[in-house]
Order: sequence, then structure tokens, then C-alpha cells
Amino acid sequence: MQRIRVWDLPTRLFHWALVLIVFLAWFTGDVLESSMEQHQWLGIAIVGLIGFRLTWGLVGSRYALFSQFVAKPAQVKAYLKGDWKGVGHNPLGGWSVVVMLLLLTAMVLTGLFANNDADFTAPLAFMVTSDVSSFLTRVHYLVFKLLFVVIGLHILAVFAYKWILGKDLIQPMIDGHKLAESETDESATGGGWLALILALSVAALAMWGASAAWYTPPAKPAVQTTPDW
Ligand code: HEM
Repeated sequence: MQRIRVWDLPTRLFHWALVLIVFLAWFTGDVLESSMEQHQWLGIAIVGLIGFRLTWGLVGSRYALFSQFVAKPAQVKAYLKGDWKGVGHNPLGGWSVVVMLLLLTAMVLTGLFANNDADFTAPLAFMVTSDVSSFLTRVHYLVFKLLFVVIGLHILAVFAYKWILGKDLIQPMIDGHKLAESETDESATGGGWLALILALSVAALAMWGASAAWYTPPAKPAVQTTPDW
């Protein structure tokens, strides 16, 4: 069977950047609780990555498209019966990607309105009352726990594929290539420069929105100071 290109470079860079940034966000937010400034910027970077991936899922190359890997229940059933062949995300894996992206979105959206009950308020917290901000902070922690479990299962599944089924999924996520499984499997096409510019623009716009760079806080009323006598 022929070696074909499955994961384009933007998808691979997205994946490994996400792994690094999610790790650093966990480290700064959970381990070093005093690094909220860095944690906030890592969260904004994740917003950019999600904006990029959601757009790339619509305009990217073949196997990165949602239409390719968001499977119907019958396809998931067939996969579970061992009746599926393909080189992209398998039907169950495709759904795990959707779940991870949804949880990551929920995590950054709630994080942007959060506060730490001390010296930190997230960039968009000014838009909500402090009660809502505290509620969203609790949801942020909860979603993080869920995401932690799902990421754990994801990594476990990848290693189960390697060690139990003898199928290496990691190398293709590094070099982009797999062996074709059937005659109809072909190298990915699509996802050209225009698509990349569009996805990067959405990412930049999402980061700008999340950082509240568009917001100018109202000027504080001038305080009448007592002359220095
Ligand atoms: C913070 C940790 C991680 C997150 C959030 C994460 C998330 C994701 C996402 C969203 C995808 C879908 C890629 C796409 O289509 O854009 C994916 C795929 C993949 N990830 Fe991860 N990942 C993590 C850690 C890892 C690690 C540590 C490994 C390897 C040891 C790994 C190996 C893979 C592989 C091989 C795929 C492709 C699976 C397939 O062939 O269907 N991931 N991951």
C-alpha cells in the first residue's frame, strides 16, 4: 500500500501547539497559582487555536474537515463491530475530537470571565457581575476536570492503538503520513493559502476579542487632592 499525506502541516502544528499550551495553562493555573497573568495569555492563545481549528475544519484539507470525521451513529456502530477502514480520524476518534474541542471552548469561555477571589480578574470579567464571574469560575474548574479525564482517555486510546492494535497514530501526527488502507484512500487535497489566511485571521480576531484589547475602561473621575501644605 502507498504512503499518503493525511494530516496537513497546519493541523499538526495546531495539535502540538495545543498540547504544549494546554500543559502550560494547567501548570500556571493549577500548580503555580500565582502566575495568573501568564495563565490568562495562555488561555487567549487557546482561544486563537480553537478559532483556527474551527475554521480549518470547514476550509482545511480533506482529512481535517469536520464533514470527514464527524460520523453518523451507524458509522460509529460499524467501527465498533470492526467494520471500518479509513485513514482519517476513526468514527469514535472523530467524536472525541469534537468533545475535546467543545470542552476546550467551554473552558476558555468561562475562564475569560473568571476571577480568583484575590488579585486577578480575567479580561472579560468586567462584562458580568461578580456573582456571575464567581459562578463561571466554578464552571471553569469543573470543565477543567472533565477535560483532564477526556485528555487522559485520548492519550490512553492513542497508546492502546499502538501497543494493543499495533497501529502507530503518533508518527502520522508528526510527519503527516500514513499507509493507505484501501484503493480509495488518497493524499489530502484542499486547504490552500487562502484557507490558511482565513483560519489565521479568525484566530487573530478571536484572540483580539478575548483579550478585551477593544475595550477602553471609563476614565476615573479626577480626585480633588489637597494642596501640599
Ligand atoms: C493536552 C493534551 C492533548 C490535547 C488537548 C489533544 C487534542 C487533540 C485533538 C483536538 C486532536 C484532533 C486533531 C485535529 O484533527 O485537529 C488530537 C488528535 C491526536 N492526538 Fe492529541 N491531544 C493531546 C495530547 C496528545 C498526546 C500527548 C499525544 C501523543 C502521545 C496525542 C496524539 C494524538 C494523535 C495521534 C492524534 C490523531 C488521532 C487519529 O489518528 O485519529 N495527543 N488530539
